[in-house]
Amino acid sequence: MTLTSADNAVLNPMLRELAAEYASIEDADLLRRAPVLARRLPGHLLEFLEAYRLGEPSALCLISGLEVDAERLGPTPAHWRGSQFGSPALPQEIFFLLCASALGDVFGWATQQDGRIMHDVLPIKGHEHYEIGSNSLQHLSWHTEDAFHPCRGDYVALMCLKNPDAVATVVCDAGDLDWSALDVDALFEPEFTQMPDNSHRPENASESTGDPVVDRLRRRSFDLIRSWNDEPVKRPVLFGDRTDPYLTLDPYHMKLDGWSERSSAAFQGLCDQIEAKLRDVRLKPGDCAFIDNFRAVHGRKSFRARYDGSDRWLKRLNITRNLRGSRAWRPAADDRIIY
Ligand SMILES: [Fe+2]
Repeated sequence: MTLTSADNAVLNPMLRELAAEYASIEDADLLRRAPVLARRLPGHLLEFLEAYRLGEPSALCLISGLEVDAERLGPTPAHWRGSQFGSPALPQEIFFLLCASALGDVFGWATQQDGRIMHDVLPIKGHEHYEIGSNSLQHLSWHTEDAFHPCRGDYVALMCLKNPDAVATVVCDAGDLDWSALDVDALFEPEFTQMPDNSHRPENASESTGDPVVDRLRRRSFDLIRSWNDEPVKRPVLFGDRTDPYLTLDPYHMKLDGWSERSSAAFQGLCDQIEAKLRDVRLKPGDCAFIDNFRAVHGRKSFRARYDGSDRWLKRLNITRNLRGSRAWRPAADDRIIY
């Protein structure tokens, strides 16, 4: 869907007003109000999001045309740390948050980007060849977002602020796969070792959050990540309807040895089909892409980072349709962080 100038004329004052009211997208009151504020979005946009949510007509929902003032954005930060304060993109971030809140509840991970709800996706110096979203010279292997975790999101969403080299995000839609050619029954078996991805490692977090209670909970969370790395859990790769399955896999972070011949062959067949069906999506400033994390895998092609303030810069949100499903992992019903 492309927003019209009439949509922007309605949205701009509303977003400016909300941006003046809050210092950061992480403000607890803003996050609490978001599902109610989302009702102020244009009706046809809400209907579009609802049709995507309920009917699953595609694994990717792209909303284009939100106005972004490139001048106002200023330089792309060198790191995600601290970028939630004084954000020049706060009005756009609020739009993104409200759209996300029409699909479900936004949430974060204690072990990822210091427990923030809204992440930055930008190249970080030193990560060029590391398997993580902030790499650049190495492509980011396609994956289900947080495939290793039972509380992974229903959607992973990306909002583009800058993409000067039109770097491609890659997406494969489960609807494009030929399931009749695959050993679906084998892929429904809990035989596939999946490990946490690098973005949840303690070396990619700040030493301390400044809150001793949060730090204690976070240490427990990192211990769990470590145990899942040391003793990887076996999970199914497919679930749901056997004729039109949902999928969850992150091959780069899977231990491929010790699988039966049948499991290995079924997995390889699925990966080959996904590789063949990947499509490029070149996000433009103002694009908000909502990727169905049950129906699609996603990644990114390699690129050369500039490190001069003009680099590709996206914002990212995780969205769940079942916040209660992670209640055992969160200290309170209205806490959106998974520990
Ligand atoms: Fe991802």
